[in-house]
Amino acid sequence: MKKNNSILADTFGRAHTYLRISLIERCNLRCTYCMPEEGVLLSPKSSLMSYEEIYTIAKTFVDNGVTKIRLTGGEPLIRKDIPVILEKLASLPVELSITTNAVIVDKFIDTLKANGIQNINVSLDTLDKEKFKQITRRNDFEKVYNNILLLVKNGFNVKINTVLIKGFNDNEIIDLVQLTKKLPVTVRFIEFMPFDGNKWNMEKMISYKEIMKKLDDFHSEGLIERIEDAPNDTSKNYKIKGYKGSFAVISSVTNPFCDSCNRLRLTANGQLKNCLFSSTESDLLTTLRKGKSIEPIIQKAVKAKFKVRGGMDTLKKLQQPKLHSNNRSMITIGG
Ligand code: 5AD
Ligand code: SF4
Repeated sequence: MKKNNSILADTFGRAHTYLRISLIERCNLRCTYCMPEEGVLLSPKSSLMSYEEIYTIAKTFVDNGVTKIRLTGGEPLIRKDIPVILEKLASLPVELSITTNAVIVDKFIDTLKANGIQNINVSLDTLDKEKFKQITRRNDFEKVYNNILLLVKNGFNVKINTVLIKGFNDNEIIDLVQLTKKLPVTVRFIEFMPFDGNKWNMEKMISYKEIMKKLDDFHSEGLIERIEDAPNDTSKNYKIKGYKGSFAVISSVTNPFCDSCNRLRLTANGQLKNCLFSSTESDLLTTLRKGKSIEPIIQKAVKAKFKVRGGMDTLKKLQQPKLHSNNRSMITIGG
């Protein structure tokens, strides 16, 4: 039941109703912007949350006001006990969703349906098979593309996440939006963000402004419509008149949406991150394993949340590599 003086309220009046849980640090792809070439140091298996622990921690958050849970990774679907995790979490009164690279999602259509999952976010950065191989270091373009079609056919709400990198896939913005002509999907362009080991620099990022300029130049006037954003949405939403789908931009770098942030993140090894960019974490799993209450730790972590991007409130701060070195690589945060 929801409590009034929620431990999930921060000092800036933000209520946290959305928990993102990373189920696994491993992935069947190797996206360059997400993980360093040399890989990441994986947590020992014993320090990863079991499905019972995931359920217990998730329930504590739900009891305190969380209404939405998204499962991420690495790649959540490669976790062996994913069917049990889905089943346990589906028993909680939350909207359950998942982010996947879709490589093996065809094997889970029934399981996803059976557990009431409707919203699926799929990462896809290019429509070019060769480029796909280059960015993900794997040759799975066709599988992913066909699986997106399969998800749509099965009635899921599909959002495609595309990280834009200058000189790599910024020439595909128009083509990716063209996908929405016949497909009822949302293509979301994400500004490339800095994380430990991903060789980020400001020059590689394509900004919200640049994305819209390219689209405005291509489409005749009046064809692009701004559409309403969902509450706490991180994206600015648009559609092309007459198209089945829509597109959006997530401008985390040039136009952060921290004021309306309602998110907390739980890593696969049971650490709570109060922000995607936080350099500190709070260890829920160790306390849970000691049989003690995790609520005081959650409360303390939420109260310590910075107003903007883990304290990197200016672009200048965001550009200092040192400030990212205490953060994880994206693969172990889960987006
Ligand atoms: N910048 C922006 N988005 C990223 N993602 C992963 N790494 C980055 C980054 N450096 C996104 C991917 C994926 C989601 C989990 O996080 O698009 O869909
Ligand atoms: Fe895997 Fe997603 Fe990271 Fe790519 S972005 S390596 S698909 S977790």
